Amino acid sequence: MAKLRPVAIDDLQVWKQRGERIPVITAYDYTSAQIIDAAGIPVVLVGDTLGMVVLGHDSTIPVTLDAMIHHVRAVMRGRSRAFVVGDLPFMSYRISRAQALTNAARLLQEGGCHAVKLEGGREVAPTLARIVDTGIPVMAHIGFTPQSIHRFGRRRVAGKCAESAEALVRDALALERAGAFAIVLECVPIPLADELTHRLGIPTIGIGSGPGCDGEVQVFHDLLGLYSDFVPRHTKRALDLADRMRTALSTYADEVRRRVFPEDRHGTSMDPEILALALEQIDAR
Ligand code: KIV
Repeated sequence: MAKLRPVAIDDLQVWKQRGERIPVITAYDYTSAQIIDAAGIPVVLVGDTLGMVVLGHDSTIPVTLDAMIHHVRAVMRGRSRAFVVGDLPFMSYRISRAQALTNAARLLQEGGCHAVKLEGGREVAPTLARIVDTGIPVMAHIGFTPQSIHRFGRRRVAGKCAESAEALVRDALALERAGAFAIVLECVPIPLADELTHRLGIPTIGIGSGPGCDGEVQVFHDLLGLYSDFVPRHTKRALDLADRMRTALSTYADEVRRRVFPEDRHGTSMDPEILALALEQIDAR
């Protein structure tokens, strides 16, 4: 079978124009990146949800750029086809433009991903434009932005009143003008997400924003039922993998205790005469 060529940034634009939906999934390590690639998912986000689903924090705020780079590198070793976006974590792009450029460059240069993502509206558009100017593609992220959880107070839908809906439209248009190649709409009311998808030339990637977006992103651990500390309404549970893993692990522990596993075939045999010879040498001393 012919090997499919790697996904490139302009494929996303082509898919939007053709009305082909864009599946996106998060990944944080080598093995899951291999599985995702084999499943044919074209875009992978190494999200700062890393902080919650892999590192066990209660928000994305403690995630550092070094942690992101570490996980982006692992994903890049596992993927062969997917287009990979690395998340710029909390405060890694807000202090100054120089800081944002340095950190976006580190994600690409040290991590090896193809693009970066940052959260925020019009206030980050000039920073986004500078990063894009240097040749680094940027995915934007508006609506509920988890890095601002303490400002929101809790996870909430953004853009429900006229004022905040207007703000979201202005944000989205400004980010597109600044050069974003795609935009994540997280927890945006469905009619507003539909309107944004219609007005924007770049693909919208929804999460909790309904079926009208150009693409959808889900968190790997949510989709596969690996993480249950918090299950957002927008989660699709395709499997209960945690339950299946618990069963497999307790079977393993039980088999070890009952001496059912390992069997001889799981190890390497040895010529008894060689062993006897070795022991003779020891005993002779
Ligand atoms: O960090 C992440 O995984 C994300 C997605 C939920 C969009 O930003």
